[in-house]
Amino acid sequence: MRTLASVEDLRAAIQAWRRAAERIAFVPTMGDLHAGHLALVRHARSRAPRVVVSVFVNPTQFGPGEDFEAYPRTLESDASQLAQEGVDLLFAPEVETLYPGGTEATTQIDVPQVSRGLCDDFRPGHFAGVATVVARLFNLVQPDVAVFGEKDYQQLAVIRRMVRDLCWPIGIDGVPTVREADGLAMSSRNRYLDAAERARAPLLYQTLCKVAAAVREGQRDYRELEREAMEKLAAAGFQPEYVAIRHAQTLQALETGQRPARVLAAARLGRARLIDNVGL
Ligand code: PAJ
Repeated sequence: MRTLASVEDLRAAIQAWRRAAERIAFVPTMGDLHAGHLALVRHARSRAPRVVVSVFVNPTQFGPGEDFEAYPRTLESDASQLAQEGVDLLFAPEVETLYPGGTEATTQIDVPQVSRGLCDDFRPGHFAGVATVVARLFNLVQPDVAVFGEKDYQQLAVIRRMVRDLCWPIGIDGVPTVREADGLAMSSRNRYLDAAERARAPLLYQTLCKVAAAVREGQRDYRELEREAMEKLAAAGFQPEYVAIRHAQTLQALETGQRPARVLAAARLGRARLIDNVGL
């Protein structure tokens, strides 16, 4: 596996593969890799002979007071895990490389509608930062297929919509959420939980599963289900941000019985902000 940090080196490697008509699968990450990320890498492996992974903690998707500085940076161990997975190329640029004119007045990509509501109400501007950096990475890597986790469901919807709107010939594959044995979705931010919080954390996924089961069993009042779930989380010491039953593609609010549906939630627990979702 080669680890590259410059645009020139990356372009040369990509051009060589393109000339040889080799398909490229791409997995963007912020590093601190866990089994969830590695599931994406394995999926990418199954989709193309060449696999590129990026590790880049993207400043423009962090709001003021969020954990940009504290976000774990573990490039050495990330690189060794990726090499073991048979990744061809790790792209790990510096901030100046992806934002040569600085981050302040940079060209931005906004994907309206799917970016609004849900996480955006609590992290305004986050999805513009995600779309902006993923667009840059797509332009550099020129993948045939790119792989994202369903764990960040609104992010996946934003990327799908961006690719469709900008007519990029890139397939977007979503991979199901990889969980700990007790159901907690794997996340780099789970390390912010202390032992007592970690023990309580699976309640988020359990609550989502119960909401999904209630909908399947014919419970018609979605707003009431969302309210009850929020109350249950709050009573258990979470600070819930939202629990929402939404259209699985547009993420717009759903009338009773419409499909495909997705139940999504975000909640703070101690220092961690947890998100999760389940399909219906
Ligand atoms: P990051 O949080 O590092 O996640 C990289 C990819 O791994 C995302 O597609 C995310 O959905 C996926 N992922 C994380 N935890 C997962 C889990 N438990 N199961 C399955 N997939 C999981 O998401 C980002 O980085 C950034 O926003 C990025 C897209 C790289 C843009 O900066």
